[in-house]
Amino acid sequence: IKKIGVLTSGGDAPGMNAALRAVVRTALGKGLEVYGIRDGYLGLHQNRISKLERFDVSNMINRGGTFLGSARFPEFKEKSVREEAIENLKEHGIEALVVVGGDGSYMGAKALTEMGFPCIGLPGTIDNDITGTDYTIGFHSALNTVLDAIDRLRDTCSSHHRISIVEIMGRYCGDLTIQASIGGGAEFTVIPEKEFDEEELISAISNDVEQGKDHGIIAITEHVTDVNALARRIESRTGLETRATILGHTQRGGAPCAFDRVMASQMGAFAVDLLLKGEGGRCVGIQSNKLVHHDIIESIENMSRPFNQELYDLTKTLS
Ligand code: F6P
Repeated sequence: IKKIGVLTSGGDAPGMNAALRAVVRTALGKGLEVYGIRDGYLGLHQNRISKLERFDVSNMINRGGTFLGSARFPEFKEKSVREEAIENLKEHGIEALVVVGGDGSYMGAKALTEMGFPCIGLPGTIDNDITGTDYTIGFHSALNTVLDAIDRLRDTCSSHHRISIVEIMGRYCGDLTIQASIGGGAEFTVIPEKEFDEEELISAISNDVEQGKDHGIIAITEHVTDVNALARRIESRTGLETRATILGHTQRGGAPCAFDRVMASQMGAFAVDLLLKGEGGRCVGIQSNKLVHHDIIESIENMSRPFNQELYDLTKTLS
């Protein structure tokens, strides 16, 4: 193998740049040429591909976002679009592709692999919802951002004797919410993996209020319910002013934390080593503190992420 491509795809995540830097520098160090593809599969389809050199990734390790750009490109599900993309890769002599992204990006990497073009997937998403890895690149940085927001909300809601609802990203995965809840000392935790019982939540808050509690934080994952409407219902039932804060895309930006920088660097280097060993069609992860790799097709079709019940139970024990 002489030439590899690299792209970032789907929602950006802090630490993607660290992963790109590691792929580029490891590959160049081992005598490979590296090509960067702009804006994910969209740029791949549009043939926006250029060679990367060592200094193209200077001053990148500490930067949030992804310098290659990213996009959501549902058209990549179409076989004809992927065939054109493979033609573009072949035109540049690229023999394998490293894809940094979330589950949509993995689907694209899987489909290319099935069409005979080897890809390696690196888990890059703040959601932590990828199989075959304990952590995804960006998760811990986003977690720190959410914790900072919760700390700030606690200051103001305790001063004003209010309830604060914090809506946290994660798509359909509650990991960010659970860990932010534990780290931020939230009183209530609502996640997509558990059926939401609004009546139970409001009764529990009312119970706390009767016992003298005059403020509190509810950490809730996006898509579970309309948090502004929930705030109005809590306020009318408990008599305590209630405000909802949707953290939104603030969670995706900012400098990557130390953990994400180091993990992304390790994963990027590991991906190149796998390709040099002739291993294509793999996805990289970290499990029990060890770098691992799984078959990308098997991982998408047959593996599932275990739900951490103990951690969820801890949110209740400590609230
Ligand atoms: O997958 C990352 C993520 O930030 C999710 O948490 C969120 O549901 C989604 O992306 C938002 O996507 P977009 O930036 O396209 O609105």
